[in-house]
Amino acid sequence: MTLDLFADSDTEQPAQRIALGAQSWLLRGFALPWVDNLLPALRQVLRQSPLRHMVTPGGFTMSVALSNCGDWGWTSDRSGYRYSAIDPRTGRPWPPMPDVVRALARAAASDAGFDDFIPDACLINRYVPGARVSLHQDKNEADFAYPIVSVSLGLPAVFQFGGTERNERPQRVPLLHGDVAVWGGVDRLRYHGILPIKEGLHPVLGAQRINITMRKAH
Ligand code: SIN
Ligand code: FE2
Repeated sequence: MTLDLFADSDTEQPAQRIALGAQSWLLRGFALPWVDNLLPALRQVLRQSPLRHMVTPGGFTMSVALSNCGDWGWTSDRSGYRYSAIDPRTGRPWPPMPDVVRALARAAASDAGFDDFIPDACLINRYVPGARVSLHQDKNEADFAYPIVSVSLGLPAVFQFGGTERNERPQRVPLLHGDVAVWGGVDRLRYHGILPIKEGLHPVLGAQRINITMRKAH
């Protein structure tokens, strides 16, 4: 068993693997040993491609601020959702994906049963209290053979994890600092979302939640 290899040195709690579906897992605390390397790497990315609020095709400004790193970045504007190699804000390629991001994605995917995952896209979402992401499927990627690896940092959130049909009632799963959710295979197209973040102050990140989602876009 790999469980206690990922003990959190602060609490001595072993990481827990919780099944959310046949091929969906919540890896409780999995990212905690990575956080000290991860946060400076993300700050460096955001100095080059800052967080910004994008507009949906329907004309609404998203409550979540976002940026990307890697070969491809997820973007939204009035003409649709897509992956772009160029940051529309800077006119330059997205910053390279830091090694720590790639390694964390690979390790978490492997722990969830998806070996040799090599992401080429990392979406960085920032939530302040009240921000949310409504139920959606991740389906802008070219090939659904690869899993989604999603890391939670900062303030807690309630993750809605539904079925492959929009009308299926979603599970509500608390996501805490250091948790990683991984879904793929038969669960790759399950609907998911984040309920409005509650007010709070996280000891490391203050009044915000950061989510990074690693995918293979192309
Ligand atoms: C998303 O599905 O884009 C966001 C998921 C999250 O913030 O945990
Ligand atoms: Fe998503």
